[in-house]
Amino acid sequence: MQRAAIVTGASSGIGLGIARALAEDGYGVALAARRARMLEEIAAELGGSALPVPTDVTDARAVEALVRTAVERFGRVDVVAASAGVGHWAPLEQLDEAAWDETIDVNLKGTYLLARATLPHLRESRGYLITLSSVSGTIGQAGGSAYNASKWGVRGLTQSFLKEARDDGVRATAICPGLVATPMVGRPESDDVIAVSDVVATVRWLLALRPIVQVKDVVLERTLA
Ligand SMILES: NC(=O)c1ccc[n+]([C@@H]2O[C@H](COP(=O)([O-])OP(=O)(O)OC[C@H]3O[C@@H](n4cnc5c(N)ncnc54)[C@H](OP(=O)(O)O)[C@@H]3O)[C@@H](O)[C@H]2O)c1
Repeated sequence: MQRAAIVTGASSGIGLGIARALAEDGYGVALAARRARMLEEIAAELGGSALPVPTDVTDARAVEALVRTAVERFGRVDVVAASAGVGHWAPLEQLDEAAWDETIDVNLKGTYLLARATLPHLRESRGYLITLSSVSGTIGQAGGSAYNASKWGVRGLTQSFLKEARDDGVRATAICPGLVATPMVGRPESDDVIAVSDVVATVRWLLALRPIVQVKDVVLERTLA
């Protein structure tokens, strides 16, 4: 049976790169994000194994429907990549509550909802959860209180998930990149920033490791000071 993946944030940037790579590697891929038209265009590009499923990851019922739809179509879930995310940056005193709430809801709660809904299927497949934390999940940064808190949270969630699931052969890794050239940061690809292809190479490396190997997080820093 064809292996299957669910990728959130699949309409852009890192999630799109991961979805493309998994489709190329033979996975059926459920593509999740809010922009339905974008997902349909990407699915058309990727061919018959891609399934667009418009989803707001902050909505528990929508995330459960996403997982149900993927399982109905593919019969299994082997890889889950949680890449949906937003970045609000402002000094704490100027950070409004709406920006705080959205950052925590999309980045952290969205990852929790996806992990919770997919865990039974990952136990069955002895599958793999990949989350997107960040270098910002390993340090504090001026202006980053909401983003830093959300990304530290993603690393903590990923490690707790692993402790609960690893006896069933389920693995989990938080990938923690520095600056990656994507629409989120508005930087074009260059020698000064990490490329989506570097994150994709990390995902492929993780999935190629033998089941005895666990990597709880991978930090991809730039060589620049
Ligand atoms: N770029 C970097 O420098 C960098 C570094 C470290 C970590 N990261 C993390 O990597 C992940 C991907 O970021 P990126 O750089 O690829 O950003 P991006 O290009 O802006 O993509 C963000 C994705 O998240 C989706 N999204 C946002 N809110 C959503 C919601 N409520 N429900 C469902 N999907 C939602 C967006 O799709 P829709 O708008 O269609 O919903 C989009 O597909 C994020 O978690 C980010 O924090 C990025």
